[in-house]
Amino acid sequence: MLTLDLSKLNGFLPQDYLSSREDALREAARMLAEHNGPGGDFTGWVTLPRDYDKEEFARIQAAAKRIQQQSQVLVVIGIGGSYLGARAVVELVNSPNFNLTHKDGPAIYFAGNGLSTDAMLEVIDLIKDKDWSINVISKSGTTTEPAVAFRIFKNLLEEKYGKEEARKRIYATTDAHRGALKGLADAEGYEEFVVPDAVGGRYSVLTAVGLLPIACAGVDIVELMAGAEEAMTALAAPGQDNPAWQYAAARHALYTAGKKVEILVGYEPSFRFFGEWWKQLFGETEGKEGKALFPASVEFTADLHSMGQYIQQGERLMLETVVRFEKSRGSMEIPHDPDNVDGLNFLAGKDLSFVAEQAMRGTLLAHVDGGVPNLMLTAPGRDARSVGALIYFFEYACGLSGYLLEINPFDQPGVEAYKNNMYALLGKPGYEDKKAELEARLG
Ligand code: PA5
Repeated sequence: MLTLDLSKLNGFLPQDYLSSREDALREAARMLAEHNGPGGDFTGWVTLPRDYDKEEFARIQAAAKRIQQQSQVLVVIGIGGSYLGARAVVELVNSPNFNLTHKDGPAIYFAGNGLSTDAMLEVIDLIKDKDWSINVISKSGTTTEPAVAFRIFKNLLEEKYGKEEARKRIYATTDAHRGALKGLADAEGYEEFVVPDAVGGRYSVLTAVGLLPIACAGVDIVELMAGAEEAMTALAAPGQDNPAWQYAAARHALYTAGKKVEILVGYEPSFRFFGEWWKQLFGETEGKEGKALFPASVEFTADLHSMGQYIQQGERLMLETVVRFEKSRGSMEIPHDPDNVDGLNFLAGKDLSFVAEQAMRGTLLAHVDGGVPNLMLTAPGRDARSVGALIYFFEYACGLSGYLLEINPFDQPGVEAYKNNMYALLGKPGYEDKKAELEARLG
C-alpha cells in the first residue's frame, strides 16, 4: 500500500493544519461518497474500481487479445483525459521505450493529441508497412484534434485494408448515447466502448478510455483495478490517518500560507507521463476562480541539473510532492576500477539504486533547508497493482482538495475559450461575427 511521509512539513505549517480542516474534509468526503456536491454528476469514478461494468471489461480484454494477434501497431487517438492516463500507465508500468521493447503485443502510437503536421506524418511513416488498428477515444466525439486525426487515419486504414476490413480494425471509445463519434461508430459498425456519463475525461483512465490501450500494451488490467480498489477501500475511511485527507489538507494549508506551485517529483524516467496525467488532473480540477496551486512536474536527478537551481534558490513559491518507488526492478552493481581516476571506488560494489536513494535523501533535505516543503509518497513498485493504487490516491485526494478550495472540481469551463476562438478563426459555420472580431484584433 502507499505511504505518505509528512515529516518534512514541520516548520512550514501550524501543528493544527490537519485538525483545523477535519470538518471540511469530512464534508468533502461525504459529498464524494453521496455524489451530491458541486459537480456531483461527475463523481462516478469514486466507486468505479468496484462498480465497473464487468461485461464491458471482458470485452476490453477480448478486444485487446484480438488487437495483439492482428496488429503490430495500435494507433490510439485522443487528447487530454482521453489520452494522458493510458500513456501514463503504459510508460510507468512498462517503459517510455515500450515501442522498442514490446514483444507479444503491438507498439502503441498516440495521435490526435495535438495539431502538429510533422508529428502526424512521422506516425504515418512509422506504421505504413505494418499491420495496424485504431482505438479512437473521445467522450464528446467532437473534439477537433482527435476528430481530424481520426479522419486521416481512418482514410489510410481503408486504403490499406478496404472499408470492410478497416471497420473491424477500428475500436471507438465514446459516449453511450451522444456525439458525432457515437453516430459514426453506430453507422460503420465499429466495436464500441463507453465513457460513462458520470466520469469526466481526467478521471477516466480506469474506464475503457485507458483500459483498452493499457491492456493492448500487455499491462494486467485486473491487477490495475485491484490496486485501485484497495486504495478506494482504504481511503473511504474518514479521519486524520487517511493519507488522502493528509495530502489534501497539507497542500491546501500550504496554498493558504502563500505557496503557488506544487511540483510533482519523480526519480524514474518512466514516471514522466504520470506527471503529465497528474498535471491535468489537478490543473483542470482546481484551476478556477483565480485559485489553486499551479501543478508542475520534474524528473530527478536529470532536472536537478536544470530546475534544481530555481527550486533551491529561486522565488520561494513552491512545495514538492515526491513519488518514490520502493524497489528497482533490476540491480546494477558499480564496478571497481584499479586506476580509480574518477575517484569513484568508494562506490564500487554498491548498487546504483543505493546511489539514487542517497541522491533523493540528500535532495529532500537540501530543498527543505532551502525553504521548500516536501511530502513523500512511497509506492511499493511500478507494477500494475501499485500504479492502480497511485491513480486512485491522486484522484480521490484531488476531489477532496477541490472541495476544500470551494470550487466545482468536476467542470472545466475554461477549456472552451480557446476552442471558440479556434472554431471562429477556422471559419466554422455559426462563428462568422466572432471571426471578424478576432481577425480585426489579430491584425
Ligand atoms: O478532462 C477533460 O474533460 C478533457 O481533458 C477532455 O478529456 C479532452 O478535452 C478530450 O475530450 P473528449 O474526450 O470529449 O474528446
